[in-house]
Amino acid sequence: MLQGHPVAIPTETVYGLAANALDEDAVLRIFKAKNRPHFNPLIIHLPDWESVKKYVTNIPADAELLAEKFTPGPLTFLLEKHSLNPQSAIRNPHYTIPDLVTAGSPKVAVRIPAHPLTRQLLRMLDFPVAAPSANPFGYVSPTTAQHVFEGLQGKIPYILDGGPCQIGLESTIVDFDNQQVIIRRKGGVAVEAIEAALGKKVLVQTGVEEHPVAPGQLKSHYATSTPLYVGNAEELAARFSNKKIGLIAFGKNMDSVPAKYRFQLSASADLDEAAKQLFSTMREADASGAEVLLAEWLPDIGLGQAINDRLRRAVHDAK
Ligand code: TXA
Ligand code: MG
Repeated sequence: MLQGHPVAIPTETVYGLAANALDEDAVLRIFKAKNRPHFNPLIIHLPDWESVKKYVTNIPADAELLAEKFTPGPLTFLLEKHSLNPQSAIRNPHYTIPDLVTAGSPKVAVRIPAHPLTRQLLRMLDFPVAAPSANPFGYVSPTTAQHVFEGLQGKIPYILDGGPCQIGLESTIVDFDNQQVIIRRKGGVAVEAIEAALGKKVLVQTGVEEHPVAPGQLKSHYATSTPLYVGNAEELAARFSNKKIGLIAFGKNMDSVPAKYRFQLSASADLDEAAKQLFSTMREADASGAEVLLAEWLPDIGLGQAINDRLRRAVHDAK
């Protein structure tokens, strides 16, 4: 990383492809390795809340409260960044996140990851680390070093292997507007947990990943190569009776569904376990030889909401 080349690092959510956020050439190499459009902004990673304060300004009280409660952990904060504007209190380029990282937005996405190896690494560095998920753009996010290798081999010099990711879903992204807290992406911290911590309701306005700057350009995301359909598994199986079916189950086995390949997100119907298993199961199912993948919606509570969001965006678009 010190030589300006992006390297893969473990976090508790998914593996990230990391580079010095203040070095635009290094950041450009992230976009290139992932084949990611430049209008899609990156999250910066820091070791603690004290260092976050060097890069942002006007931190709302709700953000402080959520930081206290959920960091280090799978929560990303959208906060006002310092600008190089002469009126700005801080003009030091070392504390100014480049527009390339934020895709021109006045806000920067900041996260304090919980993985012990990466925390140690971040404490050793004197710059913030920009890191999107370490997968080719549009494909399923990586939750093991092996997943990273399969997607990016030959394109990056190093993968720091920290074992399988404990959460398995990307961070929840929170934004702040006047007194309102807005969820921009559902993820590793459940909406209910955020509302309980704040003692008030939040707004849920997701879609930043589909419409970061240019609406409609990023529809399919998290997609498997094998078409995936989500709904009533028996009905879907009848519709695809001429195909080799891969069934992704949650809890019940669904023996009545005629599938050639079967996968289980959590035999005990545990949503946290299903979150942890989701991306590796999608990859396994994708590589199984199935011609079509079928799944049912999970209960829309807790991490089930974030899982359903990822499934929705992986769904095969017939167009
Ligand atoms: O769990 C995670 O958040 C992982 C790990 C590696 O930390 N990272 C991750 O990054 O999921 P990525 O690049 O795959 O997703 C980042 C998303 C962008 O697609 C965008 O929707 C949102 O975060 N984002 C980043 N910066 C933003 C900004 N300044 N304004 C609005 N949205 C932003
Ligand atoms: Mg991603």
